[in-house]
Amino acid sequence: MTSQGLLDGKVAIVAGGGGGGIGAQTSRVLAAAGAAVAVVDIEAERAEQLREEIEARGGRARAITADVREQSGVAAITEATLAAFGRIDVLANVAGGMQQHAKWQPLADWDDEAWEKILAINLRYVFLLSRAVIPVMIEQGSGGAIVNITSISGVFGAPNHAPYGVAKAGLIHLTKSLCLEYGRYGIRCNAVSPGVVATAAIAGAVSDEENAEMWRSIPLERAGTPDDIAQAVLFFASELSAYVSGQMLLVDGGVSSRFPLGLPDPEPGESGA
Ligand SMILES: NC(=O)c1ccc[n+]([C@@H]2O[C@H](COP(=O)([O-])OP(=O)(O)OC[C@H]3O[C@@H](n4cnc5c(N)ncnc54)[C@H](O)[C@@H]3O)[C@@H](O)[C@H]2O)c1
Repeated sequence: MTSQGLLDGKVAIVAGGGGGGIGAQTSRVLAAAGAAVAVVDIEAERAEQLREEIEARGGRARAITADVREQSGVAAITEATLAAFGRIDVLANVAGGMQQHAKWQPLADWDDEAWEKILAINLRYVFLLSRAVIPVMIEQGSGGAIVNITSISGVFGAPNHAPYGVAKAGLIHLTKSLCLEYGRYGIRCNAVSPGVVATAAIAGAVSDEENAEMWRSIPLERAGTPDDIAQAVLFFASELSAYVSGQMLLVDGGVSSRFPLGLPDPEPGESGA
């Protein structure tokens, strides 16, 4: 399967595009499809590493060190991307997560600061960055694609990490708002909601045994990979989804299809299938 050429001539910003998880793989996949990629990360080394990797494979990239939560960082991102590549066609908002801000706990145990920080890195920055990028897309006159990485935790009740679930649910709503407000300019906005993806953040959150148990409960019987998510981002970023906007795609190995009241999974039939 080749994606080559799907994003030829396009310029993509990947917010949180360094690191070792979904962000980095999104940067790689969009670059392999032909986009020039602005790899934005708060960690300079991570962004730089991705730039080197993409250029070594013959792609085009620029490393931008910025904090997406800050207005100054957001301004720097659009300016640096326009200076490097002259336009912006795709905005992939990948940065997010619980990060180091808090442990998982019931609502009454959360303090104000941790709540605010989790909303800032999962929801507020998407507002700031979208607000900066949309006028550029409108001015260019050739549409654009915004792709928000949300979470299965924004779709279902999310015990012990309410601020994260609230932020991701808000991001799903924001996705629909942008679809309605900017469709007339050919700007599409969609969301990808990962289930559980085997990244460092997840590996550290629970034990190996708990992880194995979790994988077994997934219909496809494995954890998601960063590439599973990045390919969905590519779909929404490219003309493959030219008539799709305001949608949220759960990329979760089938978890969300399960009947919620604990019916047993089917046993294999006589054929073993
Ligand atoms: N890993 C999962 O199982 C899972 C499940 C559902 C949703 N998600 C979502 O997927 C996204 C990616 O998660 P991941 O674990 O793969 O992370 P990742 O490995 O892609 O890391 C994200 C990058 O964002 C950067 N970053 C963090 N704060 C930043 C800031 N303020 N400004 C700029 N850059 C910043 C980090 O340095 C890191 O390189 C997140 O939005 C997360 O909520 C992940």
